[in-house]
Amino acid sequence: MSRRAVPSRRLNDDAGIPMASSMQQKSKTSPLVSVGLVVLGVLLIVGYSYSRSGGFGGNKEISHLGEGASCTLEVQQAIPILQKVYGDSMRRVLHVGPATCSVVTKLLKEEDTEAWGAEPYDLEDADSSCKGLVRKGLVRVADIKFPLPYQPKSFSLVIVSDALDYLSPKYLNKTLPDLARVSRDGLVVFTGYPGQQRAKLSDLAKFGRPAKLRSASWWIRFFFQTGLEENETATKKFEQAASKRSYRPSCQIFHLSS
Ligand SMILES: *[C@@H]1O[C@H](CO)[C@@H](O)[C@H](O)[C@H]1NC(C)=O
Ligand SMILES: *[C@@H]1O[C@H](CO)[C@@H](O)[C@H](O)[C@H]1NC(C)=O
Repeated sequence: MSRRAVPSRRLNDDAGIPMASSMQQKSKTSPLVSVGLVVLGVLLIVGYSYSRSGGFGGNKEISHLGEGASCTLEVQQAIPILQKVYGDSMRRVLHVGPATCSVVTKLLKEEDTEAWGAEPYDLEDADSSCKGLVRKGLVRVADIKFPLPYQPKSFSLVIVSDALDYLSPKYLNKTLPDLARVSRDGLVVFTGYPGQQRAKLSDLAKFGRPAKLRSASWWIRFFFQTGLEENETATKKFEQAASKRSYRPSCQIFHLSS
């Protein structure tokens, strides 16, 4: 009996040992495997959203706008405040600046607002909705160093963002009065603050030269020299409306009379 009992116990033991060891192995490796899977999953998600956001160079416009501050984005945020300040003068708006399709699209969503855009750079990378605006004649590419292809006072309000930062005073001397020429009730200028990080080196080819970010006093002197007057009423109204909404623009904003 004892002879039989021994092998049977040994068999049990033998059977028990691999079972236990495999259990042990499992409990040792399974956290590693699941951690690995989680890491892999996170990498896939991050990679996917990164490529979607243009991180791999898929969408130039977004990666350009994401770099430092963009006053074109600031224009979009300021639209409700500009409505408060300019009221009826927001009926026929021309926006001049890079990524103008984004501003025109936003303005067209406002009630009683017609909008046009002048894009100083090429629109080769434009998406289909932007190309639609070009087909309708609402957005056009225009070299702002030369007179804009519009009649005097074609627009009630002209808003320019970023574009002026890339012009030398020699061209600004002509471009600023020309922007005032095509506007009837006012010209709003959005420019970067000195020291802000602007377009990437890879975008310099597009802009022609690095942005020159000038101080408020430089701009005010320049407006004065070119015979443009700041609209103090509009400036005050804008500041009041902005502080009421705790809105703090990350760009300098000047309100000029036409
Ligand atoms: C721009 O125009 C103003 C007055 O018209 C003149 O004083 C100034 O020298 C001009 N600047 C450049 C760079 O041409
Ligand atoms: C100044 O801006 C206001 C809008 O806030 C406008 O009603 C007024 O006509 C402008 N004044 C001049 C001189 O452009």
